[in-house]
Amino acid sequence: MRILITGGAGFIGSNFCYYLKKKRPALQQVVLDKLTYCGNLDNLKDLRGARGFRFIRGDIADRKSVVQAMRGVEMVMHFAAESFVDRSLHQPVDFVRSNVQGTQVLLDEARRVGVKKFVQVSTDEVYGSLGARGKFTENSPLQPSSPYSASKAASDLLALSYYRSYGLPVVVTRCSNNYGPYQFPEKLIPLMISNALEGRDLPVYGKGLNVRDWIYVQDHCSALEAVLRKGKPGEVYNIGGDAEEKNIDVVRSIIKILDVSPQLIKYLPDSIRPGHDFRYAISHAKLTRQTGWQPSVSFREGIEKTVVWYLDNQPWWQKIKKRAAFKAFYKKHYKTR
Ligand code: NAD
Ligand code: DAU
Repeated sequence: MRILITGGAGFIGSNFCYYLKKKRPALQQVVLDKLTYCGNLDNLKDLRGARGFRFIRGDIADRKSVVQAMRGVEMVMHFAAESFVDRSLHQPVDFVRSNVQGTQVLLDEARRVGVKKFVQVSTDEVYGSLGARGKFTENSPLQPSSPYSASKAASDLLALSYYRSYGLPVVVTRCSNNYGPYQFPEKLIPLMISNALEGRDLPVYGKGLNVRDWIYVQDHCSALEAVLRKGKPGEVYNIGGDAEEKNIDVVRSIIKILDVSPQLIKYLPDSIRPGHDFRYAISHAKLTRQTGWQPSVSFREGIEKTVVWYLDNQPWWQKIKKRAAFKAFYKKHYKTR
């Protein structure tokens, strides 16, 4: 059996490759990744050269690369995407190309080779924003707020259309906010940990009252593996960690674990992220009912493990933060909006 993992050099993709290697060692893994600013071969260093593991550098929107990667493949786990809301506000065109056009090329080629399962890894952000109460279910309307979430909603609908029109066995998953090892240090948690370690400001949007439903990345990986085995074609499954936290509380937890000064917090006008969703909360009842899956890591345990990982792997994120492109984006985003 061979599985194609797109975006396997990114945050969740690389964690999934390790998870699968342990859980299903006989499964051959082919990773297709463009190595954008977020893709990083260092994330896969313990897998490269291993039996049954192959890495291909290529773009999912480039049919030639996809044809090559799809040879002998029976299942697809599709992570590859532009994934940062703030970048989508600066540069939406990249999101349409990779997330929408790229997904369409993959779906075409998956159909041509007749894969047995195609998992479209999506996000709860396609549902838009919640008020103080309620949770997203699979029947919540799609109301994306940013070019990122709109591009993901478009790719979900394309994927489901391939099920309805051509019978391609597509399953869509929509997960809440992940955190853990190998997350690119532009996202809230790794940015706060690394900035705190560098003694830099901790930029909090608005008053930090927005709420996210956090899931430790390995719990997302186990949910995806359950969907790979038991998910029903044509269905959508929400995945969440049952761990709602206000942003400011997340930042305060990190400050406490690292024992740094709360004076590092710098509140920025919320207009830095126009259309900023207030709250996400996920009901994963359908997935739990159909597969028995449950999240297993509490936020307190997960955040401690994550801080320890970033402490133990400082060269990994320091190398990224030294890049001219990282510094240029940081300056443009935090200083000029
Ligand atoms: P990431 O940005 O860390 O990784 C994305 C990977 O995709 C990178 O390795 C990048 O090089 C690759 N990639 C991007 N465009 C590509 C292209 N055109 N061709 C080939 N490779 C390309 O993202 P992540 O946080 O690991 O997210 C992975 C997936 O999970 C995304 O589809 C995202 O929408 C979804 N998701 C993320 C979260 C989260 O909290 N991070 C939550 C729910 C869903
Ligand atoms: O919900 C799933 C989504 O979670 C995924 O689809 C996305 O790929 C992933 O990036 C994440 O999106 P968010 O926009 O929720 O994550 P981010 O880390 O960018 O921001 C989390 C919250 O923290 C959000 O309310 C904005 C706030 N924030 C973020 C940054 C980068 C700050 O206050 N300061 C910051 O510097």
